[in-house]
Amino acid sequence: MAVRPILRWPDPRLSQRCDPVENERLDDLIADMFDTMYHAQGRGLAAPQIGVLKRVFVMDCGWKEGESRPLAMINPTIMAAERVPVVAEEGCLSIPGLMVPVERHKAVTVQWTAAEGDIHMDDFDGFEARCIQHELDHLNGLVTFDRIDPALRAELEGPWLAARDASA
Ligand code: NI
Repeated sequence: MAVRPILRWPDPRLSQRCDPVENERLDDLIADMFDTMYHAQGRGLAAPQIGVLKRVFVMDCGWKEGESRPLAMINPTIMAAERVPVVAEEGCLSIPGLMVPVERHKAVTVQWTAAEGDIHMDDFDGFEARCIQHELDHLNGLVTFDRIDPALRAELEGPWLAARDASA
C-alpha cells in the first residue's frame, strides 16, 4: 500500500461534489487512505483529498491517544442529528497549520457501506461526530472555510494563502 500526495486548498478538486460508489471494491484505495492519513498525523481523510472524487472517507479519531478506532465509510449519509450547535477548532490535512472554529451538530446518526460491502448504522458524538461532519463536507465539495462567516474567512484564509505562497 502507499502514502499518496494530499491535495492542498484551493485545489479545485476539493470543491467538487463526489460521486456515489456503486458495486465497487475499494480495498486498495481505503488502505492507501489510511496509510496517507496516519503518515500525515491526521485523524480523518476523504478521497477527494487525494484526488479521487468518490464518496468515501476514513477516520480514526483516537489513535494518537492509544484509542484507535479505524472506520472507513462509503456513501455515508446522516440519518439524524442532535441539532445542538457545538463550536470547536478543526484542522484539515488540506489546509495544514490552520485551525478554524466550526459549528457542528453535537451528535449524528450515520448510515454507511463498509469496505466489505455491508451496510452499517451507528450513533456518534464528541470528536467522532465532528470528524464525520467534516469528512462528509469534503465529499460535498466543502472545506472548513466554507462553514464560517465571510469576515472570519477573509481573516484566516488570506494570511494562510499568503504564507503558503511565500513558502512555495
Ligand atoms: Ni479536511
